[in-house]
Amino acid sequence: MKIFITGGAGYIGSYVAYLLRNQDYEIAIFDNLENGHRWALKDSRFYFGDLRNFNQILDAIYDFKPDAIMHFAAYIKVEESVNDPYKYYENNVLGSLNLIKAALLNKVKYFIFSSTAAVYGIPKNIPVSENETCMPINPYGQSKLMVENILKDISKSSFLKFGILRYFNVAGADVKAKLGQANKKPTHLITRVLRAALGKIPYIEIYGTDYPTKDGTCIRDYIHIKDLAQAHIDVLNYIKEEDKSDIFNVGYGKGYSVKEIIDIAKKITKIDFPVKVGKRRKGDPPILIANAEKLKKLTNWEPKYNKIETIIEDAWEWEKYLNSNPTLFEY
Ligand code: UFG
Repeated sequence: MKIFITGGAGYIGSYVAYLLRNQDYEIAIFDNLENGHRWALKDSRFYFGDLRNFNQILDAIYDFKPDAIMHFAAYIKVEESVNDPYKYYENNVLGSLNLIKAALLNKVKYFIFSSTAAVYGIPKNIPVSENETCMPINPYGQSKLMVENILKDISKSSFLKFGILRYFNVAGADVKAKLGQANKKPTHLITRVLRAALGKIPYIEIYGTDYPTKDGTCIRDYIHIKDLAQAHIDVLNYIKEEDKSDIFNVGYGKGYSVKEIIDIAKKITKIDFPVKVGKRRKGDPPILIANAEKLKKLTNWEPKYNKIETIIEDAWEWEKYLNSNPTLFEY
């Protein structure tokens, strides 16, 4: 089976590409290398291009003739999306529309879309299931929900079948595969905590201790990149075998507070790095935990790396590897 991967030079796309190659799929990557890295492509077939340019994506899909598309390419920073919504709607929505049009013109039947728990906004029910009302509270989440809705409508009026994966908090890496996230200015909690342990940032700031949670800090459902990546393959197999479209939460159904993450990271790194309490960050829901039963029930997906210690240990190995290979940040 031939799979076309947009954003395959990025953190999640490159790891899914790696798994697909190991499982004997034929793949091609399409990426503009704005946030991805050339080293993450490994030796994959590569199309350099930008989704906002319809001819570039059309040419690549016409040339590769995939059976399925996995669409990762997008901007993903919540705060930036609030300050520059146009940038998010143009890249995430218009880019996806171009890709879907190219897919339809070339009769690509299966479409796997990388979505986010941000589509729920501040959910009423925890754990949150796929049936929860979607009310995103920022343009990033809104842009992902718009693409979900576009896919729903288009699949009703065409041969296209989609699988939508709503990610919770993705973390961890695979040092053996030499794949992980290489971001000079990370915003994610686990990466920042480990950068504080390495002394790359002076301290970790806790964004608010007055939330209605057991220790006052926000709770999230952290999922290992290895399990998240495999879910894409399992969802593709499901929509193909069942010949139907569907939406899946991808998380473990277990939440950890910011303080708990910091304590576990201190134990794993054996470093007592400085921690400061700061103000709330805008737009943070107090608790986000997935109800991921649907994914486990309907597909072959089984979590294998679902211990928070494994996630943080693997992220720690990766941060040390990055620290000794600074050129990885560059391209
Ligand atoms: N946090 C800190 N200090 C930091 C970094 C984060 O206290 O230095 C806190 C945040 O306030 C939040 C928690 O740690 O409560 C997790 O924050 P992340 O930035 O790691 O992740 P988010 O939950 O904000 O974001 C994730 C995805 C987004 C997605 C969102 C859905 O990364 O893409 O979930 O709400 F949109």
